[in-house]
Amino acid sequence: MCIQSEDITLAEKDNILTNAAGIPVPSNEVSKSVGRRGPLLLEDYTLIEKMAHFNRERIPERVVHAVGSGAYGTFTVTDDITHLTKAKLFAEVGKETEVFVRFSTVAKSKGGSDVYRDLRGFAIKLYTEEGNWDLVGNDTPIFFVRDPMKFMDFIRSQKEHPQENWRQHEMWWDFWSLSPESLHQVMWLMGDRGAPMGWRHMNGYGSHTFSLINADNERIWVKFHFKTDQGIKNFTEAEWMHMQGIEPRWATKDLYNAIDQGNFPSWTMHIQTMTDEQAANFPWNPFDLTKVWPHGDFPLQRVGKLELNRNPENYFAEVEQAAFSPGNVVPGVSWSPDRMLQARIMSYADTHRYRLGVNYDTIPVNRPHATQANTPYRDGFMRVDDNNGSRINYHPTHHDYPKADENAKAPPYHVEGLADRIELDEPDHFDQPRMFYNMLDAGEKERLIHNIAGSLGRCMQQIQDRQIDLFRQVDATFADRVVEAIANTEPPKPEPQPATV
Ligand code: NDP
Ligand code: HEM
Repeated sequence: MCIQSEDITLAEKDNILTNAAGIPVPSNEVSKSVGRRGPLLLEDYTLIEKMAHFNRERIPERVVHAVGSGAYGTFTVTDDITHLTKAKLFAEVGKETEVFVRFSTVAKSKGGSDVYRDLRGFAIKLYTEEGNWDLVGNDTPIFFVRDPMKFMDFIRSQKEHPQENWRQHEMWWDFWSLSPESLHQVMWLMGDRGAPMGWRHMNGYGSHTFSLINADNERIWVKFHFKTDQGIKNFTEAEWMHMQGIEPRWATKDLYNAIDQGNFPSWTMHIQTMTDEQAANFPWNPFDLTKVWPHGDFPLQRVGKLELNRNPENYFAEVEQAAFSPGNVVPGVSWSPDRMLQARIMSYADTHRYRLGVNYDTIPVNRPHATQANTPYRDGFMRVDDNNGSRINYHPTHHDYPKADENAKAPPYHVEGLADRIELDEPDHFDQPRMFYNMLDAGEKERLIHNIAGSLGRCMQQIQDRQIDLFRQVDATFADRVVEAIANTEPPKPEPQPATV
């Protein structure tokens, strides 16, 4: 228990500045020196503590999605799906659950801009009464790779060159042109939706196939979609390049100001569902992250409304320290065999332990808000809650100890095969990119081709040829138009050269 002395209460009342031990600080502007012109004294604990804490202010940034902003809000059920899931947050129409959402860009490091061509993160933490459900998605229903073994290389191809230390178009297209499974996502990225106008005007997707489990312990496969109620809006290539110069935190400001002014952004949540029988007859692998489930065959079903209505008080405490994990699913929601998702179940908690420490999940933004954690975990750096108090720290035991909950057990699903390094499926990398291309209107096609030419055109011929060959397998006219656009695109401005004397 924390005992407050009368003096501390007085210090608080008068808003006295103290050190971390609560001792009043004698000066916050002048160090302790020997005379007016002499050196400083080692006994100036006030100065030393202030400097030492400052030296440790930075924590490792997220290895990806380092630039972002977030807000709190509410998820409200609008349509009954209790026949599909027993998750209590969906128990009745009108039920509300507190959420925290963090939006992000992927490739740039902390301090970078949030207006440029890139995917956007759309990570939702739902503080349910059965624990926190983290739906850690993007603004696209697909991804560049479908085997986690390639994820780390893909990310490095998007970040800085190991020697020259700047991001390079040639690295992107080198990787993509040698990874045909990336085509669908690359065409999306280079199209209009690759440069959304802030976070409010884009959709969010769980992207992977997940599963829902009902009260009868029946599982159905599911995809999650969050469609923006603000309408889709994107920057053109020229607009985002301009905006990056004058307001590199456009998206962050746009979200903060909208919420601050009471103009609360919202998204309508939908699901698509697929039975085991439908999965067996689906022309693609339903667990392949580079493919969508066509809406015509798997219609969107409305479920609820996500609204953001409260800005965080402190960016570092609440946004920088926010930690999402696809491993956090509540009873009634579960994973699928999607191999990318399987890897992510492990990766996020692991990176949080590195970035924030082993007790990252006790930080206020990360801990449950609608229930209490009651873990078997003990001790570790920065354990600042009661550490389970006097409760015995082993099990089984004759002492009182919390019990496991059968209800949290997901039903089994059938798997078979040889344990081996086996490619996901026979490669089929072109059908869905073709569906995507055919969906675009003439203007969207024109801008897609223009954007590709401006980037691919900066690469060596060998890489261009390889990528054009992939485009040709999507649509020959599309490939021809890219070749023509590259030929007609003004070469990029010369690289900066060292000054000559
Ligand atoms: P539909 O024709 O039924 O729906 C097309 C979807 O594409 C809509 O959700 C629409 O989103 C979205 N869309 C429209 N313009 C663009 C664009 N320029 N960039 C990205 N998305 C856009 O499509 P199908 O389900 O038959 O799939 C056809 C193609 O649509 C796929 O290859 C896929 O790339 C894309 N798509 C499919 C989705 C799915 O889950 N099935 C989801 C999103 C895209 P909105 O309604 O918000 O405008
Ligand atoms: C962030 C790993 C694929 C969405 C991260 C982080 C890691 C990571 C290590 C940093 C987390 C942190 O420091 O807090 C991986 C791996 C992947 C993968 C190993 C594939 C094998 C994906 C996919 C999506 C996605 C497919 C979307 C569908 C996000 C988002 C964040 C993130 C939104 C930022 C979360 C936040 O706002 O804090 N990822 N990722 N990732 N990832 Fe992934």
